[in-house]
Amino acid sequence: MNDGIIFSPFQVKSITLKNRIGVAPMTRMSSSGDSIPRQDVFEFLIRRAKNGAAIVYTEAIVTDYESAQGYPGQARMVTQRQIESWRPVVRAIQKEGSIAIMQIFHCGRMAWPDINPANRVIAPSAITPNQINPMTGEPYPVPDVMTQFDVDHVIVGFAETAKGAIEAGFDGIEIHGAHGYLINNFLSSYSNERTDAYGGSVENRFRFAHEVIQAVKKVIPDDRLLTFRISNWGVADMEVSLFKDKDEWQELINLLSKESIDAISVSAYCYKDKAFGTDRSMAQITREVTDLPIMICGQIYDRTSAEDALTDADIVLSAKSMLLNPNWVEDVRSGKDLPLYTSEEANVAYTDEPLP
Ligand SMILES: Cc1cc2nc3c(=O)[nH]c(=O)nc-3n(C[C@H](O)[C@H](O)[C@H](O)COP(=O)(O)O)c2cc1C
Repeated sequence: MNDGIIFSPFQVKSITLKNRIGVAPMTRMSSSGDSIPRQDVFEFLIRRAKNGAAIVYTEAIVTDYESAQGYPGQARMVTQRQIESWRPVVRAIQKEGSIAIMQIFHCGRMAWPDINPANRVIAPSAITPNQINPMTGEPYPVPDVMTQFDVDHVIVGFAETAKGAIEAGFDGIEIHGAHGYLINNFLSSYSNERTDAYGGSVENRFRFAHEVIQAVKKVIPDDRLLTFRISNWGVADMEVSLFKDKDEWQELINLLSKESIDAISVSAYCYKDKAFGTDRSMAQITREVTDLPIMICGQIYDRTSAEDALTDADIVLSAKSMLLNPNWVEDVRSGKDLPLYTSEEANVAYTDEPLP
């Protein structure tokens, strides 16, 4: 079979990606207390590089020891031991001609105070999601409204974590601005009712993201990538559209495009769903207003869907197919019939069962 667009190279800054396929970020909750993932979780990532993925994203790494963590067993990147644990993983991924990008985030109003040493939840406003926390079976606690001190402190956490990733040799950093976590809490008026410089207009709601991007950019060398992930949905109250309409989304993408980032990763529930009541997809309405490379994710599970998604994006990311099928990239290359996996099947990610 002709390799086609999927297996053609793509240039991002000084980095040539060998194809258009990446492993989407996937939290595994595997750390036993030192905020270092289990060895089999590391090996899982290396196997995806060996199978041909051009980009391997890590799970979302929490950015501080105060209030960033939302799920048990998450990883951090601020101690020498944490850095040393990732170094051989990054090298093994690079040996396959792939690149490794560390995704970093703060859970914001989705944090779980009991597993954060400071026992705190912080967010732009004192608003909780409507649904209960499936991890605790309880409502999410009402967050403390972030002060300027909190804002500055959290930004330092992002920069320190990015420094750790660079020290471990990562090719890039992704700032997680999607899925209802802290940065997304600021971006969306569903969770941001501030009346200061961080709330109100789209530009004001974007200010926190801007400050995080600037701080992270400062600590990463020019030859590394900086990507930003964004979505119109969050993991709690999933049915809610976090942005009002297409114009609001495009205004945000415009602001992002002025930042010194190298790609925008758009996370959709399904890559081809029509967005904001228009007849166009998230990738299409994003493309209308940016020249930056676009990554798209959401139900890309076989060669046909990958090819289709690449008509409006530059790179496709896959999560569940990558998780459950260690040969996914090669199966896409050969055009094999492949299943669309469910979230229930993906729950195996959170067990201590090593994945293939
Ligand atoms: C087990 C699992 C863990 C995930 N963890 C993260 C994460 O840490 N960061 C993130 O941005 N998205 C995360 N996601 C969302 C995926 O990256 C992706 O956007 C979503 O699963 C849709 O893609 P898919 O249809 O290919 O699975 C996770 C998804 C799964 C299944």
